[in-house]
Amino acid sequence: MLYLAVILAVVGQLVSADQQQQLSLSSASAYFSQRLYQNVALDKSNMIYSPYSIHSALSMTSLGARGDTAAEITTTLGTTSLGDSVHLTYKELIEQMNSVKEVQLHTGNAIFVNPYFQIAPKFIEDTSNDYFARTANIDLTANGGPEKPINDYIAAQTENMIKDVLQPGSIDGSTVMILVNTIFFNGTWEVTFEKFKTRPQDFKQLAGAVKQVDMMNDERTIKIKRDNSNGVDVAELPFKGGRFSLYIALPQKVDGITDLEKLLAQPNKVNDLFTGLNYVRVQLAIPKFKTETTLTLNKPLKDMGMVKAFSPMAADFTGITQSAQVYISQVLHKAMIEVQETGTVAAAATVIAIVMESAIIISPTQETFIADHPFVYFLRDNVSGEILFQGKFSG
Ligand SMILES: *[C@@H]1O[C@H](CO)[C@@H](O)[C@H](O)[C@H]1NC(C)=O
Ligand SMILES: *[C@@H]1O[C@H](CO)[C@@H](O)[C@H](O)[C@H]1NC(C)=O
Repeated sequence: MLYLAVILAVVGQLVSADQQQQLSLSSASAYFSQRLYQNVALDKSNMIYSPYSIHSALSMTSLGARGDTAAEITTTLGTTSLGDSVHLTYKELIEQMNSVKEVQLHTGNAIFVNPYFQIAPKFIEDTSNDYFARTANIDLTANGGPEKPINDYIAAQTENMIKDVLQPGSIDGSTVMILVNTIFFNGTWEVTFEKFKTRPQDFKQLAGAVKQVDMMNDERTIKIKRDNSNGVDVAELPFKGGRFSLYIALPQKVDGITDLEKLLAQPNKVNDLFTGLNYVRVQLAIPKFKTETTLTLNKPLKDMGMVKAFSPMAADFTGITQSAQVYISQVLHKAMIEVQETGTVAAAATVIAIVMESAIIISPTQETFIADHPFVYFLRDNVSGEILFQGKFSG
């Protein structure tokens, strides 16, 4: 009996230590995401990217970096204090995400290597162990160009949502390797929207313009918060299973997006958005939309402090190869999101809806959450705290 108690206590400690590591990693990634947002999103009206994908791909690449090049990467990622444990934490996160059942979620890494370069076996081994990266040779003579097999791989991993990331001519004889991270998410709302309630409604864009946008409407009980001191309302729309949610951060003022973006730039502000929400019965209106964004991240990452990695002369990737002086020539990112009424008919998730309704005292005042002006949104894993996708919608 005593032995059993001792063993349980030890297991309990291990689990919570892992969770702590995951939360440290997700906070680092969340802050990285906000600094990236400041570099890539302010001048765009609609955009989407995956903080998780960019952060994990760079973290994997850092396994081959040495010296100042490595230090700059981990500083930019905000993972310096985590040390080498960051790789094991990613390993656990990837394992966890790929075993999720309540939504379709899969993420993977791949490394395409130029067969004419000698790659350090340790790099291949580490990326395979910690990031489950599969390694394949670049086919320099492939039909359709050496980019095609890689683009095909990415399309297959993302159910054809992400295509043609690499433009023809991006790979030539000087390319040493291409590192790829993909993530695919397909969730059904815990409570779906009824199609017949979707209709074109006014969306107040910046600078006074009004555009007709398809809005999904419902009256329901959801978790929201009114953060009056920061002038922002937040609504949580959970996916089936409750682990993943889409959070919409809607400025209280019609033209409040700039103030919200300034708030997000401050350290540790983003995670505040996800706490302190309470169930309220609301009249809800959320745009139905599709956004696709392609980003070249070289300049944003350099601006964020990752300079040496891009420098042909100064980069130190001797952990990848010692047979040539190599550097990063391009970091590309492409993401897409489609927010719509359902998923499947089975999604009717009616059972869950009923549970929610009965557990809640319906407030007498009718409140609203009408996302009819520019907002920022986050698709987040409530368990690890990871922001899988972040974006902005302005109509
Ligand atoms: C997402 O899931 C829904 C419901 O299961 C399905 O109908 C749809 O085809 C899926 N989308 C993609 C891109 O796989
Ligand atoms: C999210 O996680 C927090 C803390 O772990 C928990 O209190 C909360 O109920 C979770 N929310 C959902 C929707 O699972």
